[in-house]
Amino acid sequence: MKKNVQFLLEPLSCLINASQNQTLLEALLEAGIDIDHSCGGNGTCGTCRVHIESGFDSLPPPNEVEAELRNELPFDSHERLACQNYAHEGLIVKLREKKL
Ligand code: FES
Repeated sequence: MKKNVQFLLEPLSCLINASQNQTLLEALLEAGIDIDHSCGGNGTCGTCRVHIESGFDSLPPPNEVEAELRNELPFDSHERLACQNYAHEGLIVKLREKKL
């Protein structure tokens, strides 16, 4: 049975409902959040990077796709790809400021 989880999205202070088998990106898009995802969630563009304000240590290490991209793009120390990480109870996720 799929467990439902909630995580907090900043700076909107918005609680996002998701199921455990949804990526953060899928959950955010389903909630109507405007988050960049140029490659469609394939882990190749880096535009879906989010800052994990709380719960960073509870996430698994980057998978192969994310690890490869981390070698190519600058990631802040608490940034992860929303498309490669699953929704997790109690996370606090902060959207990046859109760069023009
Ligand atoms: S949507 Fe492209 S890396 Fe996540």
